[in-house]
Amino acid sequence: MYVVFFIIVCLFAINDNIMYAQTVNKLTVHCDTKGAEIPSTMYGHFFEDINFGADGGLYAELVKNRSFEFPQKTMGWNFFGNVSLCDDGPFENNPHYVRLGMTDHPHKYTGIENEGFFGIGLKSDSTYRFTVWARGEKQRIRVELINNSSTKDTQVIAVEKLSIHSKDWKKYELLLVPRETLPNAHLRIFLETNGPVDLEHISLFPIDTWKGREIGLRKDLVQALSETKPGVFRFPGGCIVEGTDLKTRYDWKKSIGPVENRPLNENRWHYTQLNRFFPDYYQTYGLGFYELFLLAEDIGAEPLPIVNCGLACQFQNTELKAHAEIDSLELYIQDALDLIEFANGDAHTIWGKKRIEMGHPSPFNLKYIGIGNEQWGEEYVVRLERFISEIRKKYPDIKIVGSAGPFPNGENFDILWAEMKRLKVDLVDEHFYRPEDWFLQSGTRYDLYDRNGPKVFAGEYACHGWKRGKNWNHFYASLLEAAFLTGVERNADIVHMATYAPLLAHVDGWQWRPDLIWFDNLRSVRTCSWYIQYLYGNNRGSNVVPITMSGKQVSGLSEQNGLFASAVWDNKTNAYIVKIVNTSFEKQNVSISFLGKKHSDFHSKVKRIIFHSDNIDDENTLDDPYKIMPVESDVMAEDCFNFDIDKATFVVYKYFLK
Ligand code: AHR
Repeated sequence: MYVVFFIIVCLFAINDNIMYAQTVNKLTVHCDTKGAEIPSTMYGHFFEDINFGADGGLYAELVKNRSFEFPQKTMGWNFFGNVSLCDDGPFENNPHYVRLGMTDHPHKYTGIENEGFFGIGLKSDSTYRFTVWARGEKQRIRVELINNSSTKDTQVIAVEKLSIHSKDWKKYELLLVPRETLPNAHLRIFLETNGPVDLEHISLFPIDTWKGREIGLRKDLVQALSETKPGVFRFPGGCIVEGTDLKTRYDWKKSIGPVENRPLNENRWHYTQLNRFFPDYYQTYGLGFYELFLLAEDIGAEPLPIVNCGLACQFQNTELKAHAEIDSLELYIQDALDLIEFANGDAHTIWGKKRIEMGHPSPFNLKYIGIGNEQWGEEYVVRLERFISEIRKKYPDIKIVGSAGPFPNGENFDILWAEMKRLKVDLVDEHFYRPEDWFLQSGTRYDLYDRNGPKVFAGEYACHGWKRGKNWNHFYASLLEAAFLTGVERNADIVHMATYAPLLAHVDGWQWRPDLIWFDNLRSVRTCSWYIQYLYGNNRGSNVVPITMSGKQVSGLSEQNGLFASAVWDNKTNAYIVKIVNTSFEKQNVSISFLGKKHSDFHSKVKRIIFHSDNIDDENTLDDPYKIMPVESDVMAEDCFNFDIDKATFVVYKYFLK
């Protein structure tokens, strides 16, 4: 009986080996050919204030409606006792403030309470800076951070008192150190004297922001952006550049200068998805263009601002009268020219001087500007033409990015590409939010692009894995993004930038998914898609090197067993970096040969990174943020010329030359 069992086991093993032998995938890296340089801008980020990405997210302000300028002036606040709203405050663009006065009985209290963004996230023993513009003589307020629980008694977890002693408006500050960690605290202010006391621009920031900047950014989120080594940073949108109408477009000039005087703008993501309706979603512009340029600089990325081209959102406005007339485009064109001056001008220029006054004497070295977001049609082309002519006249070196519209193919797309070539834009911004099949079939997308026209910016892309159940940021979607990026990398001569979208999402405040990074008031999680960005950004290399299978590029072609691959030479580390994606649901055997090189030309150790999830529907979550992570190891080179790749797996191999 044992003999029979042994024979059966052997038969299975042989059978397995036969299958295995039949599916050897022979890859050849053409070391004799050094292809196009991989632009430093290749992998980057696109930031838009969607999903509470700015106010309530990256911008670390914890008070909602801090200047009482939301259309419903008390939104986010609870007033109690004798509180009145006034509108002749010290800041011209934000004139509203509150006046706290005495009540008719010493046991009745006057004060205000703010609910933050889905609560206020506080960490115990961290310090928070409370600031307020106030006026009043011999007055005192008590500032408290409290829990917000319907099931427990109110607990004060930090409290300080502030004396107000000037009849003129003055900025006051105090520090609060909560004794508990809470994701959804409230800020409460009591009047302790008889009043009146006037309060305006009431603000609370953690001290521990990115680079410790006052009025700064959330550290964990910027850290996640910077770790992908982004080469380009596109901002501020997206649809918010266009606005639902032109008066609510993103107006960069309103987003600079002292934060107290930056006017509120609506945010169209407040109402764009009615099933995710957020009536309290506005843009304070606290995270404005100065801060966005600074962020690009901090994370080492080329800034790529997008300006409005005189068109409001074309999805929401089908009538031409919603847009700026062609002969009244000067204002919009001037905004673009002034933006370049703001970024690059010296102290003798109007806008350069403003940047310097804000604290950045050296230029931001702006090299790119995008005209319009997702635009299309004749109405776009005629406007873009005007912008191009004016920008080229004054700033011939600035590279101009035009739009290919909202979809990755079709009539509009083709017309726009032809127009972009005619207008000689430098890059064309393509957008694709597409399902799994599209990504699987698009590995060769850029192989046939015209090499003589503008370059490509894959400005907004994400695999929308809605076919795979309830997890939108599931592993398999990210795997297909990795597969698609092999085609981007292989075509680095024509594709110069690629940015996933959207970037950030608050778990309680999202309008669009999937997203690259999710967060709540205290935590953040890097999705599988983030890890793909991380792996590409950190293994960018310097030049494309062709990699083939039976003489063809490896891009998921029918005979390629679901494999996608790209290879680069990295002159910094003297290594070939090979990326292979097995999108199939079977283990694949791969052999790699390096043309013109012997195994003995390589170091004995190869760096190997494996990104895999046994369950392709799994995703990283706030509660389980490290569920799916790349695993990096140094392995013996002799095991890296012929190896198995597990089903549904992304691998990166780095072969160092001696
Ligand atoms: O990324 C979300 C939105 O998708 C962007 O605002 C817009 O450009 C696109 O339609």
